[in-house]
Amino acid sequence: MSAETLVQLLYLVSTALFILSLRWMSDPETARKGVFSGVAAMLLAVAGTLAGVMATGGTHYWWILGAFALGAAIGYPLAQVPLTAVPQRTALSHAFGGLAAGLVGTAKFFLYYGQRNEAALTTFIVVALVAEILLGFLTFTGSLLAAGKLQEVHWIPQRPVTYPGQNLTNFALFGLALALGVALVLHPLAPWAPWAFGGVILLSLAFGVLLIIPIGGADMPTVISILNSYAGLSAVAMGFVLNNKLLITAGALDGSSGLILSIIMCKAMNRSFFNVLFGAFGQAQASAAGGEQKAYKSDTVESAAQVMEQASLVVIVPGYGMAVAQAQHKVRELYDLLKKRGVTVKFAIHPVAGRMPGHMNVLLAEAEIPYTDLVEMDEINGDLPQADVALIIGANDVVNPAARADKTSPIYGMPIIDADKAKTVYAIKRSKNPGFAGIDNELYFLDKTFMLFGDAKSVVGELARKLAGDNSGH
Ligand code: TAP
Repeated sequence: MSAETLVQLLYLVSTALFILSLRWMSDPETARKGVFSGVAAMLLAVAGTLAGVMATGGTHYWWILGAFALGAAIGYPLAQVPLTAVPQRTALSHAFGGLAAGLVGTAKFFLYYGQRNEAALTTFIVVALVAEILLGFLTFTGSLLAAGKLQEVHWIPQRPVTYPGQNLTNFALFGLALALGVALVLHPLAPWAPWAFGGVILLSLAFGVLLIIPIGGADMPTVISILNSYAGLSAVAMGFVLNNKLLITAGALDGSSGLILSIIMCKAMNRSFFNVLFGAFGQAQASAAGGEQKAYKSDTVESAAQVMEQASLVVIVPGYGMAVAQAQHKVRELYDLLKKRGVTVKFAIHPVAGRMPGHMNVLLAEAEIPYTDLVEMDEINGDLPQADVALIIGANDVVNPAARADKTSPIYGMPIIDADKAKTVYAIKRSKNPGFAGIDNELYFLDKTFMLFGDAKSVVGELARKLAGDNSGH
């Protein structure tokens, strides 16, 4: 087998594994297999690249190995962040991906330009180069800013930053970058071409920042997913520049899956793409949050435990607070104790509960709660009117009835878990603070709702202790 055949074979297997990885990751039961197959695909891709370099007599493969070691050294600690910080960590990965594509494109252009290589700088290649650096560099700065906003870095404004004529300015800048790109495509070897190329880079870097500053924190996970798709498209362009089929297919998979994920998130929040990118969502939230204070009814853990053990159906609605408190293992204890008492327990999974898609599924899977009891929103909503208790654990926006009824609410139209239809509602949270969208939740003021104020892990732990205590005859 020739070295070239070996490289192509490795790339083919790698592509197949990337596709399988995405397929498997779309189901919690096979997600772990999906992760391993993605890792294997990436290893084969690097091995194939190394084999290609060695076969062509390249001596610079030590650079590749060095970069591999450096990447692993940075990547390993990055992977240790808590689950709640995964959105910003993912944004950092996109930033690095975009930067890599942008730098490769820049190196290639200046290499060919320096060689006055007319044959290499074909119209097609220059179009691909311009697309690569435009998308790559805007993904770099946009994703860095998105990561900073999500991490709540103090010197980065969390609220949307808007000013008159903002969208016009952004489009004008983008238009200017495109115009420079077109000039480059027409005259790639012109004396001014390096300046035009530098101009596209600077405008793309600026555009990335300007694109993200008007976006509020609530939309950031969706925006990260859009940036993911830009990084993928930039990799596709890089694949064309380098004539590397694996980069083209892997980039296309990355680009399309990022886009599909953003569409799923937009749908789950009932927002349009346009509204997410240009709607400066989050401005209305602050004013909505500043409304009058209403009275909550709180209850004791003892009486909540009593009501729950008498129930035939308890629906648990987990949200971001369960993730923050890392309460999933205590939730598992509570689940076991209730099941032991013959209570049917189901989990209501909202598609955007938490801060990333599948956040609740991952946490509950970690606590080994059977997938069969994790019920998607549409299905569980049919059961909620029969539920004796809806136990809300650190969820807020995803159970806010204003989304159904209040046309003035910033979350109006977002599908929600109908927890308010259960016979009794218990809600665990630490304070009277609103959720991510920054608005009050009418659910907490209903007659049937009782607050159990406190950290989710300790309150659920208390509930479990009460139920276990009863079990032993106390
Ligand atoms: P949120 O609306 O953010 O509410 C979480 C609640 O948990 C807060 O009200 C908070 O109240 C409580 N909490 C925080 N830490 C806690 C702790 N240690 N113990 C107990 N409670 C705690 O969460 P949600 O209902 O899951 O909704 C998700 C939000 O994120 C939605 O607005 C959604 O649109 C947005 N979003 C999600 C995604 C994805 S993909 N998941 C993407 C984009 C946007 P206290 O501070 O009073 O405790």
